[in-house]
Amino acid sequence: MSEKDILISFYLTINNKDLNMSSVENKADTKRRRFLIQSTTVIGAIGGSIVGVPFLSSMLPSARARSSGAPVEVDISKLKFGGQITVEWRGKPVWVLRRSKAVLKGLTQESLLTRLRDPSSTVEQQPVSSKNEYRSLKSEYLVVVGICTHLGCVPTFRPELAPVDLGEQWPGGYFCPCHGSRFDLAGRVFKGVPAPTNLVIPPYHYISDTIIEIGVGVESMKQT
Ligand code: FES
Repeated sequence: MSEKDILISFYLTINNKDLNMSSVENKADTKRRRFLIQSTTVIGAIGGSIVGVPFLSSMLPSARARSSGAPVEVDISKLKFGGQITVEWRGKPVWVLRRSKAVLKGLTQESLLTRLRDPSSTVEQQPVSSKNEYRSLKSEYLVVVGICTHLGCVPTFRPELAPVDLGEQWPGGYFCPCHGSRFDLAGRVFKGVPAPTNLVIPPYHYISDTIIEIGVGVESMKQT
């Protein structure tokens, strides 16, 4: 039985003993009882809050880190050529892809560039430091938000060349299954698909050769 129930029962007991009291006394007693029950409820609520604080506190760091955009460190030391890892930043998937020399060469081919809507990244979907032909700080590593710029689905990673379902012209990239948008291995959108812009490149920088910090751009570091 809760504190509140005990108090209610206590006052009901007293009240039952005084069944013969006058109606004026009865009203006054009812008021007192209500006041005490409400007070107890408030105290109970505060007590509940106090008990709840340690639990909430223990939940806060990770929840806050995920939702507030706290920087996320990524260890890329074990990432092989062609491999990709996914980390969460601001509640979104961020991909880190290690690109081979052959892939990098393919990204600059005229035959590909003419098929892209914004091959030079003129739309501001990346920090200035990543506004280049590879859309990255170091050409070998692509760091990109894995959210389709059409309606927000998560595209699939399709690095293979010319798979049957994507056709002979497929150079490897990202395919969004929701409405068929296509992006190359620099996150650049192809012409003729619903997605209007390239995938977003988040702010990031290298803490060391093998550690990337996502959420803090090179630009903001220069300002401090
Ligand atoms: S959400 Fe990706 S194509 Fe529509």
